Amino acid sequence: MENFIAYNPTKVHFGKDVVGTLGKTVAGLGKRVLLVYGKGSVLRNGSYQDTLDQLDEAGLEITEYGGIKPNPVIEDADAAARLGKEKQVDLVVAVGGGSAIDTAKVIAVCIGEDCKAWDVMKGRVDIKKTLPIIAVLTLAATASEMNSIAVLQNDQEKEKFGYRHPSMFPTHSFMDPTYSCTVPPEHTGYGIVDLIAHALENYFGMGEASLSDRFAEGIILEAMEGGPELMSKLENYDLRAKIMWAASNALNGITASGRASGDFASHAIGHQLSLLYDTPHAASLSITFPAWMKHMKPRIGHRLEKLGTRLFGDPSIENTIKRFEEFFKSMNCPVRLQDIGLDQANWEEIVTLMNKNNCQGKNPENLLNDQDRSAIVDRMLEPN
Ligand code: NZQ
Ligand code: ZN
Repeated sequence: MENFIAYNPTKVHFGKDVVGTLGKTVAGLGKRVLLVYGKGSVLRNGSYQDTLDQLDEAGLEITEYGGIKPNPVIEDADAAARLGKEKQVDLVVAVGGGSAIDTAKVIAVCIGEDCKAWDVMKGRVDIKKTLPIIAVLTLAATASEMNSIAVLQNDQEKEKFGYRHPSMFPTHSFMDPTYSCTVPPEHTGYGIVDLIAHALENYFGMGEASLSDRFAEGIILEAMEGGPELMSKLENYDLRAKIMWAASNALNGITASGRASGDFASHAIGHQLSLLYDTPHAASLSITFPAWMKHMKPRIGHRLEKLGTRLFGDPSIENTIKRFEEFFKSMNCPVRLQDIGLDQANWEEIVTLMNKNNCQGKNPENLLNDQDRSAIVDRMLEPN
């Protein structure tokens, strides 16, 4: 087992109607609130109105910044931070999925430090002051509600990656699975694939960590059992709750303890697809992860054997990869570049961007080089 620090300060309020205490909670942290959300889903699922009512009842001053796009960009973080500074807000409340919450985290740093979002992402800011961040989660997927990571993209520089800082853990996260009952089938499937990918990224990290392995396996089983049922009962509260909690745990640190790092090469590669084609995050992962596993078989075979044995009672490496691929397909997710309308003609630009951004992963034992990256894109184009 590798040395590690376990730290997760986010206070989670989980279950039906938990937003009922949001106003009181927020009032204890400040008077002026910047309310951040996406392109409108929160207006239709009740989460925006419930949050607004709570803030109003607590007598707080509210400034709104809406319109954060999926695969969020630094421009929104900068614009929202400017507005927040002008209104002298004391804290940031995000209502939505990972895109709104990630943006809120960077906004909170930019206001606290009076700096630009891209400088934060690049690690050029010595962060001392971050405004408190409150999340009201409406979509189970990223675990942003319970971690210190923000993933933003810069379209000019053609870069998308995650940045983490301990001050970016939400202080409170309100997780009422009811709000996620309106998530359409497409994004429900994406969320399930994303959470599985997070458990896998940690599973393929560096360091023997048997308990973390079991947590990861449990999370994957939870998603593989609950996911298909949820896809046929999208408004079922208990299934939404099951998947929401699994997603938070997949990337809140619990599957990482005892490892020097996770792998996250599949995520890095997926981010290049989002940069180039605005591919939804998990739709990129359902293509990159099977391709990465196939290519990495000689290096990660022993891990795939363990995973297959534990999950499916079958040590066959091939069968395990196949089972993940089939599962992703059953979640209506693409597993080849062709499934998102690309072909061999796109090979060059994908590989070039992957090389430019040095997508190598974080596991020092399995870093990718140029040859690996080319071979993985070949796999992403293999006939299905
Ligand atoms: O924009 P609105 O109108 O709100 O609609 C959103 C969006 O279109 C919609 N939605 C959210 N809640 C809904 C809903 N629709 C109906 N009912 C609801 N209750 O769903 C769409 C996707 O939302 P988004 O927030 O983009 O999804 P997700 O939570 O999957 O976040 C994806 C972003 O997070 C990053 C990804 O790269 C991507 O940019 N990630 C963040 C991580 C982290 N902070 O730890 C780790 C991840 O690996 C990931 O990279
Ligand atoms: Zn992810």
